[in-house]
Amino acid sequence: MSSNPFRIQSPQQPQKQPRDLRKTQPQIPAADIKIQMKMKNIKYKIAVLSGKGGVGKSFVSSNLAMALAASGKKVGIVDVDFHGPSVPKMLGVRGQVLTADDNGINPVQGPFGIKVVSIDFLLPRDDTPVVWRGAIKHTAIKQFLGDVNWGELDYLIIDMPPGTGDEALSIAQLVPSISGAIIVTIPSEVSTLAVKKSITFVKTVNTKILGVVENMSYFVCPSDNKPYYIFGEGKGKKMAEDMGVSLLGQIPLDPKIAESNDSGEPFFLKYVDSPTSKEFLNIADNIIKIVEQNSSST
Ligand SMILES: Nc1ncnc2c1ncn2[C@@H]1O[C@H](COP(=O)(O)OP(=O)(O)OP(=O)(O)O)[C@@H](O)[C@H]1O
Ligand SMILES: [Mg+2]
Repeated sequence: MSSNPFRIQSPQQPQKQPRDLRKTQPQIPAADIKIQMKMKNIKYKIAVLSGKGGVGKSFVSSNLAMALAASGKKVGIVDVDFHGPSVPKMLGVRGQVLTADDNGINPVQGPFGIKVVSIDFLLPRDDTPVVWRGAIKHTAIKQFLGDVNWGELDYLIIDMPPGTGDEALSIAQLVPSISGAIIVTIPSEVSTLAVKKSITFVKTVNTKILGVVENMSYFVCPSDNKPYYIFGEGKGKKMAEDMGVSLLGQIPLDPKIAESNDSGEPFFLKYVDSPTSKEFLNIADNIIKIVEQNSSST
C-alpha cells in the first residue's frame, strides 16, 4: 500500500510534463507576421541612406526607382523620412492622397507605375510638422510595410532620413530580408566622415552594402563643357576603396536637377536622354547585377 495517497513527487524527481509548444515558442505579433507576408512578395528591398543630410538621398532614391522601372522592373518606394518627406515632390505626385480598402492602404501611382508611400500624402498642410518620438515612428514604419497593398514587386526602395537613428534601426529590425543598402555621399570631407559612420552601421546590422553613389561629383560648365570638381576630385572613389565597398556611379551637380526637383517634375522623365539619366540607368544595371546574381547564387 502506498504511504503517499496524493502521489506527491519528491523534489529531486520532478515529473516530466509534455512540452506545450504554444507556451515555449516566442509569440510573433500579428503586425510583424503581416510585414513578413507583405515583404515575401517583394523580391529585393534596398535602403538608401547616408550619415549626412542634404546630400541627395531622396533624389537618388526617386531617380533610381524610375531607372529600375524604366528597365522593366516592378518598383515601389517607401519614404521613411517623416520629418522631411521629399519623394512625392521628386516623383511629381505631391498632393495626391492615399486611399484604403478592405485589404489595406493603396499606394499612390507614380511615373512608370511606381508605387509610392509617404507621410507627405497624409499631411493636411505644407507647414504641418511631424513631431514624433522613435516609438511612434517605429509603429508608422510597421504600417508602411505591413498595411500597404504593395502587391508583387521586384524592388522596394526605402528612402531613409539622414543618420543612423530610430528609422534606420527600425528598418534593420523589421526588414531582415533586406537585399542591401546604397550609401549616398558628396565628395566633401565633412560628408565623407559622416558617411563612413553609416557604412559601419550597415555592416553592424549585418546588411550588405551594395555600393556608394557619389552625388554632386562635378559640375559641367556650359561655356566650355569641361567638368569642374567643386568639392575635389576622386574623393567618393577613395572613400569607397578605403571602406571596401564599390562605387556604383557619379552624378553631377546640375542646376537642372535642383530645378526639376523644386518644380515637382521628375528629373529622369524630363531629361530622359541626359548623361545623368543614363548614369542612373547604369547604376540600376549595376544594382540588378549585384542583387539578382547574389540571390541566384544562394
Ligand atoms: N546632383 C544635384 N545637383 C543639384 N541639386 C541637387 C543634386 N542632388 C540633390 N540636389 C538638391 O539638393 C537638395 C537636397 O537633396 P535631397 O533632398 O535629395 O537630399 P537628402 O539627402 O534626401 O536630404 P535629407 O537629408 O534632408 O533627407 C534638393 O533641393 C535637391 O533638389
Ligand atoms: Mg531625403
